[in-house]
Amino acid sequence: MSRSEQAEFVVVANRLPVDRVVAPDGEESWRTSPGGLVAALEPMMRRVDGAWVGWAGQPDLELAPFTADGIRLIPIALSAEEIAEYYEGFSNDTIWPLYHDVIAPPQYHREWWDAYVRVNRRFAEAAAAACAKDGTIWVHDYQLQLAPAMIRELRPDVTIGYFHHIPFPAHGLYAQLPWRDQVLHGLLGADVIGFQRAQDATNFLAAVRRRLRHEVKASTVTKADGHSPLVKAFPISIDTAPYRELAQRPDIRARAAEIRAELGNPKRILLGVDRLDYTKGIRHRVKAYGELLEQGRISVEDVTFVQVASPSRERVDAYVHLRDEIELAVARINGDHDTTGHTAIRYLHQGFPREEMVALYLAADVMLVTALRDGMNLVAKEYVATRFDNRGALVLSEFTGAADELRQAVRVNPHDIEGLKEAIMTAIEMPASEQGRRMRSLRKRVLEHDVDAWSTSFLDALADARAKKARA
Ligand code: F6P
Repeated sequence: MSRSEQAEFVVVANRLPVDRVVAPDGEESWRTSPGGLVAALEPMMRRVDGAWVGWAGQPDLELAPFTADGIRLIPIALSAEEIAEYYEGFSNDTIWPLYHDVIAPPQYHREWWDAYVRVNRRFAEAAAAACAKDGTIWVHDYQLQLAPAMIRELRPDVTIGYFHHIPFPAHGLYAQLPWRDQVLHGLLGADVIGFQRAQDATNFLAAVRRRLRHEVKASTVTKADGHSPLVKAFPISIDTAPYRELAQRPDIRARAAEIRAELGNPKRILLGVDRLDYTKGIRHRVKAYGELLEQGRISVEDVTFVQVASPSRERVDAYVHLRDEIELAVARINGDHDTTGHTAIRYLHQGFPREEMVALYLAADVMLVTALRDGMNLVAKEYVATRFDNRGALVLSEFTGAADELRQAVRVNPHDIEGLKEAIMTAIEMPASEQGRRMRSLRKRVLEHDVDAWSTSFLDALADARAKKARA
């Protein structure tokens, strides 16, 4: 890449902010990539003069860099085998379950690890080539844990940040990983290593101390070569503006009323919105809702449950099984309780545009976030940002990063089905005055700590690291 094409600021993430989609008739288009990472980074990237290195979501795509919505995109090609071994395999069938407290058993395969190393090097080389002298590279998430050290070796002049969007597990679990030391070395190549929760940073530092025997003082690791990365929590958030604006739009509010009417105008609508992932506790909430119907504590005429489960990682076995389990459970509950006029669970295995999501959030009286483990959970924050009317109740798992901040939610341990049922009933029966009191405080937190505040605090830490480097 010529010097004039290099950027001062380079983001490196597994996915580009857009995925290439090819229709059955061969026509190609670009669609916003799934997940919270893209949603969080896009607004900041529009403001800086930067480049984004990532995969375009399809096998064997050799694409030249291009610009979309004002962001310079540098696509990384992955072969079908690399997608199977690096993305579906090591990232999503080894690291993902291990880092989410082994909710599903992690698979350890040496050929997956080899592919992970190879692909991390490809991302690192592309980022190193794209970054201007003394520039900044910000690496994202568990798919690229080796990239920081690889970039550092190629480009010692560059300041490197790494942000980890998912949990970092306790040492007793982390120690299972056959490549535990290599991953720590990879991450420690960064100058600033950010986590969602203070507990994640503590777990990482404990692993660094125990495995590598590095000295750790006041969130700073001291390595033998003098490099001293800062390790800290930077809880991520959302861009609240589009949610606030859409929620006030008359057509979206009309759509919310229409959704309620389509569901038969029940007294209460419960809503779940997740990628179809075993970490999200969808089975647990379906079970709790089914038992409440079974016990006659609620009826389908009065309380409908809408579950949006967007398709995700559909070629990974654990996700295939999960889909079967959830769909069986939903069909059983609907079969037992539906009437010709009312359905118990309206299950939607689809993704929806943001406009429809905001209408759903506005239509929902109770938002159910029952993840068994979640780095942050931005759905909880989206619901809160949408509810400008200060109505609605949020049921929130204590095992999400969001629970550290959203103190006025109805907190729940989703493993405790009786407790979950009580929390759902509390939310269903919550008086409007209490909804208002809680929602005002939740909104204050989310609006004050938005994604801008998050990226600014991380970039400030990186600027400090750059200044420290210059002095050294
Ligand atoms: O934050 C977790 C994460 O894996 C992100 O890295 C990603 O953007 C999102 O979830 C969606 O996952 P995937 O890219 O595997 O579809």
